[in-house]
Amino acid sequence: MKNLKHISYPAVAPSLLSADPLHLKEEALKAEKAGAQYLHIDVMDGIFVPAHSFGLEVVKELAPVTKLVHDVHLMIANPLEAALAYVEAGAELVTFHYEALPMEAKIHRLIQTIHQAGANVGLSIKPNTPVSVLAPFVNELDLILLMSVEPGKGGQSFLPASLERLDEIRSLFVSSSHHPVLEIDGGINEKTAPLALAHGAEVLVAGSYLYGHPDFEERLRSLL
Ligand code: DX5
Ligand code: ZN
Repeated sequence: MKNLKHISYPAVAPSLLSADPLHLKEEALKAEKAGAQYLHIDVMDGIFVPAHSFGLEVVKELAPVTKLVHDVHLMIANPLEAALAYVEAGAELVTFHYEALPMEAKIHRLIQTIHQAGANVGLSIKPNTPVSVLAPFVNELDLILLMSVEPGKGGQSFLPASLERLDEIRSLFVSSSHHPVLEIDGGINEKTAPLALAHGAEVLVAGSYLYGHPDFEERLRSLL
């Protein structure tokens, strides 16, 4: 299993949701060349969120293309059924939503299943979900993904309350020897990135700020 602790932080995870859908391999290589460490792949099923986006085929195609951590963000209603297939497709990190499976026993089971299959596990919460729901899982998680916009589409504005929520998340593991990597997703740009980093975010997901701009590499560096 790729150890997320061996990556240097802070790191950027370019989100392919804003990339050119007809040239995903080139867009993935662009992220790697620019110095990204993660590649964020949003999976949407039209149920958990209204939109549809990438699925298994895209993860399978992209997994061998770069050495980046293939960071699969499942915005789907049934992660229990689907998560394993994403590990088999080559995802080194599979993140699912608390809101899709708000049952403690099932979440523990899915974390274990993904680990046994050889991938890292992340748990994500939407902006209106209390941070405290994460507490029972902190010791088992490799990563926590805080949504700083409502999931479902790119290009939205960063919700300022996310900064306090980052502090709250860190307070969950302040006295523990295990510390999941802290990732933030939504509305990250040159203004919000330093704020998120100051509040302990370690991986910055960025879609519309990076893709579609000729100065991709400069923009990525400006986030750190
Ligand atoms: C939104 C997705 C994000 C999206 C972020 O639901 O989870 O990963 O790509 O887009 P930006 O960076 O444009 O806010
Ligand atoms: Zn995402």
